[in-house]
Amino acid sequence: MRILHGAAELRAALAGASRTAFVPTMGNLHAGHVSLIELAKRHGGPVVASVFVNPLQFGVGEDFERYPRTLAADCEKLAAAGCDLVFAPDVAEMYPVPQTFAVQVPDSMANDLCGAFRPGHFSGVATVVLKLFNLAQPRVAVFGSKDFQQLMLIRDLVRQFNLPIEILAGATLREADGLALSSRNGYLSAAERLQAPQLHHELAAIVAAIRTGERGFEALAASARRRLNMAGWRVDYVAVRDAGTLAAPAPDSTSLVVLGAAWLGKTRLIDNVETPLGKLP
Ligand code: PAF
Repeated sequence: MRILHGAAELRAALAGASRTAFVPTMGNLHAGHVSLIELAKRHGGPVVASVFVNPLQFGVGEDFERYPRTLAADCEKLAAAGCDLVFAPDVAEMYPVPQTFAVQVPDSMANDLCGAFRPGHFSGVATVVLKLFNLAQPRVAVFGSKDFQQLMLIRDLVRQFNLPIEILAGATLREADGLALSSRNGYLSAAERLQAPQLHHELAAIVAAIRTGERGFEALAASARRRLNMAGWRVDYVAVRDAGTLAAPAPDSTSLVVLGAAWLGKTRLIDNVETPLGKLP
């Protein structure tokens, strides 16, 4: 497996490759990322992963500085998973001049769910992903479903900018107690780690109620928010949405997604659970 730090080196290494499968990451990799590499490997071309903690997508006071940088361990995992090439630029390589151009994300996304609590986040994500796509020029790119809103954003980005890239979604992997794998789980204290699966359990309980025919979505979400807050979480949101559009459920919705983001101490966790749906009454 080659490890490259320069954009020009990356372009040279991939010159002539027409079936590149790309997995963008911020590193500190876990089994969820490895499963994305395995998905990328099914596509027959070279598999490229990027490891870059993107300052553009972190707001003031967020965890950009403390985000774990573990490149050596990441490369071991990527090599074992069969990745062919790792692109690990530093900030000056990705942003050699101040990034004064940026992808403008529609308000409906920028001000909704995670966007509402992380101003500028999705513009930062879209901008770096567009740059990475331009460098790697992949045929397919793989993103995790845990970041559901990000996945929708990338799909829209590719569609609206006519990028010839197929976006694949990797399933969320979970610990035995339900906690979604996340690089940020490493921030949790022992006590917080014990409590952390509650977020998933609350979302799963909403899905279970929907599957039994319950249609009071806002009441279900409000109860979950209340229980989480009472247990000591600081809830950003719990919401039930159409899984295809992220809009509020509509009579023609065929599948829903229950999404949540909440803080345990200094750690912000996000999760979601999807469910198919018969026609709403
Ligand atoms: O999901 C992530 O790890 C990041 O948001 C991404 C897509 C690598 C962009 O920095």
